[in-house]
Amino acid sequence: MSSDKTIARVRGMNDILPEHAPVWRFLEERTTALLDAYGYQQIRLPVIERTELFKRSIGEATDIVEKEMYTFEDRNGDSLTLRPEGTASCVRAGLGNNLLYNQKRRLWYGGPMFRREKPQAGRYRQFYQIGAEAFGFDGPDIDAELIALSANLWRALGLDGLVLELNTLGTPASRALYRARLVEYFTSHRDALDEDSVRLLSLNPLRILDTKNPAMADLVAGAPQLGDYLDPESAEHFDGVRRLLDATGIEYTLNPRLVRGLDYYTRTVFEWKSGALGAQNAVCSGGRYDGLVSQLGGKATPAVGWAMGLERLVELIGSSGVRIPSGAPHAYLVMVGDEAASAGFALAEELRQTVKDLRLTAHCGGGSFKAQLKKADASGAAVAIILGDDEVAAKTAGLKPLREKTPQTQVPWTDLADRLATLVTAGRDG
Ligand code: HAM
Repeated sequence: MSSDKTIARVRGMNDILPEHAPVWRFLEERTTALLDAYGYQQIRLPVIERTELFKRSIGEATDIVEKEMYTFEDRNGDSLTLRPEGTASCVRAGLGNNLLYNQKRRLWYGGPMFRREKPQAGRYRQFYQIGAEAFGFDGPDIDAELIALSANLWRALGLDGLVLELNTLGTPASRALYRARLVEYFTSHRDALDEDSVRLLSLNPLRILDTKNPAMADLVAGAPQLGDYLDPESAEHFDGVRRLLDATGIEYTLNPRLVRGLDYYTRTVFEWKSGALGAQNAVCSGGRYDGLVSQLGGKATPAVGWAMGLERLVELIGSSGVRIPSGAPHAYLVMVGDEAASAGFALAEELRQTVKDLRLTAHCGGGSFKAQLKKADASGAAVAIILGDDEVAAKTAGLKPLREKTPQTQVPWTDLADRLATLVTAGRDG
């Protein structure tokens, strides 16, 4: 059956159009260059995992696992899930491939993640992350390194105005003590709790501190503070992180309410936020998760990492005024006449092979000189290379600047590669 109705995209899952691709490329290239510079190795992970992986790591009582996962039954009855984040997969892959046992590893990954949240600006159901994870390091230096790497990245991307919020959650034992106090406190104010908080009281009381309900702001402000229950080792670790950040000149604010929405964190947690993004303002978040590797069946291994949301960073870069390479061709080849069409096809292939990094679009489909020149202009190319049958006979080509009011010149084919190479090194695209 045929239908002339087009098929809509799935809500919350976006197409990234060619006009936006250069900003994505810029972001990805700068980020991966910096990850290389700090010695992080790429690991490429599958998009689908066993559902149990996320239940056991992110936690059963989190929003992600409770209501946001895309979970389905495979044809053989296995329960599978589109990954909502990368940390659990990274640990799973590290264990499965014996990358973590008594080893120190710095890893990074990137790609789409899936959460069935309510879509709004900056919040999507398919979104992209780049994440970095370090395994086997227990000192505060690696926490600080990961934070410094992100701070450095904002510089490399030309972004300012990002604010770092920092907190420590302590060890599971100190958190359990705090949790008990928190339950006491909220139970004694049960009447003031909203429905969601009543539910969280037994499931995950720390998440009540995360509430967005303004009616509960006072209650939350008066709640016991995690810092008061912190074990001495975690306090010392946190001091160590802060000392290194201070020594590096990385500013931060302490936010004792920062608890994060995933259960695996211990000790350091942090979030980079932007005032220019509205409600969905976290661009990079993470922390330490010393218990996760053993929770997923490995030997106890300290770990820490972060992930950043690429859509939100793309949005910030777009409004920052940073000049992004357009990706437009350096040159557009116009060919008029049968001789020119076939000689031009071969010439274009040769130029692409000889001139490093040359972006050359060859006109396809024929048409008048005027129509082809219009296409050349619309492509954003810096110059048009013009080939007619006369030029082919003389083995020359016209070189017409499209962005400047300088006259067209005739260039022998033997000089074309050098002339185009000059354009490439000058970084001249449209
Ligand atoms: P997360 O805070 O859930 O942490 O996500 C990290 C970042 O992904 C957020 O700061 C945000 O920029 C972006 N993000 C999250 N959800 C969405 C969404 N629905 N739409 C657009 N962007 C979103 C994690 O995922 C942890 N795995 C981070 C980590 C790595 N912790 C330790 N290592």
